[in-house]
Amino acid sequence: MAAEKEKNIPQLDDKLKHIAFIMDGNGRWAQRRGMPRMAGHRAGAKTFQTLSHYCADVGLKIMTVYAFSTENWKRPAAEVNALMELMDYYLDNSERLMRKRSIRFRFIGDTTALPEKLQRKIADLEDSTKNNDMILNIALNYGARAEITRAYRVLRERGIENPTEQDVSDAMYTGGFADPDLIVRTGGDLRISNFLLWQAAYSELYFTDKLWPELTTDDIDEIIREFYTRKRRFGDV
Ligand code: IPE
Ligand code: IPE
Ligand code: MG
Repeated sequence: MAAEKEKNIPQLDDKLKHIAFIMDGNGRWAQRRGMPRMAGHRAGAKTFQTLSHYCADVGLKIMTVYAFSTENWKRPAAEVNALMELMDYYLDNSERLMRKRSIRFRFIGDTTALPEKLQRKIADLEDSTKNNDMILNIALNYGARAEITRAYRVLRERGIENPTEQDVSDAMYTGGFADPDLIVRTGGDLRISNFLLWQAAYSELYFTDKLWPELTTDDIDEIIREFYTRKRRFGDV
């Protein structure tokens, strides 16, 4: 705590309410150390924990993380199963791992395709944290195209035939929440990989070669500092 005070934690304002992270590079982080890819996912889970605490400390209102995409099912079954187990462990221990931060968990993506015990834990965690402050969206079995396709069904169910942009936004998993001001991707690849395509219309993008398990709170400070040098015009002059 003392170290954190010395660190001069930046405090955010309404210009930066929502940061979304594409947490990429876990596998490469492990492989470079001669370790199995799963070791990278475990290291990545620690980074996620540290950085979500830090984002709550700096006063971020919404943090979204891409944890598992609709395309990640293509991976070998052993890796997919181990990732589900890791998620299960995290959910079991999330109260303890939150370390008194007031974090409201939300899961975005098609969670109905996840193992049933995971679905129950997700529902419980969403419910038990619903009055907390920082919204933490965990994108799990998430794909932006699947989300947009689902939005068509949602709109039909809502009886909306000629939707406005607001109606479409409201039909997304993120309906009712501000779009990301900033999307950060680690791991060096310059792509979006089917993440938040609708919501990213005017997001600032930040790419770093650092692998996800290497990202530190100092990097978050630098990312925030760099964000505040940008001029967002939203099409205006
Ligand atoms: C990101 O790390 C985590 C998930 C997609 C689950 P990767 O597993 O994609 O790591 P690299 O990109 O292969 O290094
Ligand atoms: C994006 O990483 C998805 C997540 C971080 C969960 P990938 O590793 O799946 O992306 P690609 O395959 O390099 O585009
Ligand atoms: Mg990857």
